[in-house]
Amino acid sequence: MTSDVSEETPSVERHEVQVWQFGLDPTMSDPTRCLSQDERERAARFRFEVHRRRWVTARIALRQILALHAGANPASLRFHCDSYGKPALLPPHDGVHFNLTHSGDLGLLAIAPAPIGIDAECIDRRLDWDALTQRVASDDEREALRRCPVSEQRIAFFRLWTRKEAYIKGRGLGLSLPLAAITVPVTALPGPGDIRVEAVWDDGRPWCLWDLEVPESHMASLCYAGTLYRLRRHLWSPAEQPATT
Ligand SMILES: CC(C)(COP(=O)(O)OP(=O)(O)OC[C@H]1O[C@@H](n2cnc3c(N)ncnc32)[C@H](O)[C@@H]1OP(=O)(O)O)[C@@H](O)C(=O)NCCC(=O)NCCS
Repeated sequence: MTSDVSEETPSVERHEVQVWQFGLDPTMSDPTRCLSQDERERAARFRFEVHRRRWVTARIALRQILALHAGANPASLRFHCDSYGKPALLPPHDGVHFNLTHSGDLGLLAIAPAPIGIDAECIDRRLDWDALTQRVASDDEREALRRCPVSEQRIAFFRLWTRKEAYIKGRGLGLSLPLAAITVPVTALPGPGDIRVEAVWDDGRPWCLWDLEVPESHMASLCYAGTLYRLRRHLWSPAEQPATT
């Protein structure tokens, strides 16, 4: 498996995953121009301006990047959500798999030829991770966390969280998939890692985990349904056409 930052025009090759990173606080002249009526209505429901602006930015990034893949106008893309809320593109632009995450001022979009999930979390120093562990961790994960040096347990918990969430988002079943039925490694991985899932929830696919380098205020992971051979990183900025650097 290789990881690089690419200058090529995106096209998703077999077993290649693209991750697009973007800030959620850019300056935009007419931010809602390419959004659908539903999206504008959803944006209007946010109570706080900062949350509204960030959500809108993530949505514009999603449209512009997927439009680049489809060779289409961002405003022409149409989405539908399944019963668990996972969005997908409607024909004629369907066929590519994607998943979006936004946390704080960071947004990430993963695009792949097979199901994929991605998750980023702000490392919130106030979070009572120990209490949350009781709710979200499997027995094996709790044991693995206990074995970590105390000074590393908080980070290990966030690693566990983003990996597990990436898997849940890849499967697309939301919280109907019991969190404790999934076991992810809690220690740093030198390369792609595997997921163990309770037999009754296993879909028989070899899901592959990968941690992403992001600003140190965050933790991020992706989970891909297959063998991951190549990861390409891109940066997106709303000022111009999505820029690959
Ligand atoms: C819906 C869910 C995916 C939200 O996750 P989140 O971490 O709050 O939010 P993220 O920013 O990572 O992802 C949100 C995006 O995922 C996508 N999404 C929505 N439902 C989804 C689903 N069922 N599966 C995959 N992706 C989904 C959407 O694009 C959404 O973007 P939007 O909010 O702009 O529409 C869901 O898994 C959830 O509520 N998770 C929390 C579970 C938990 O308690 N985890 C504890 C640690 S394991």
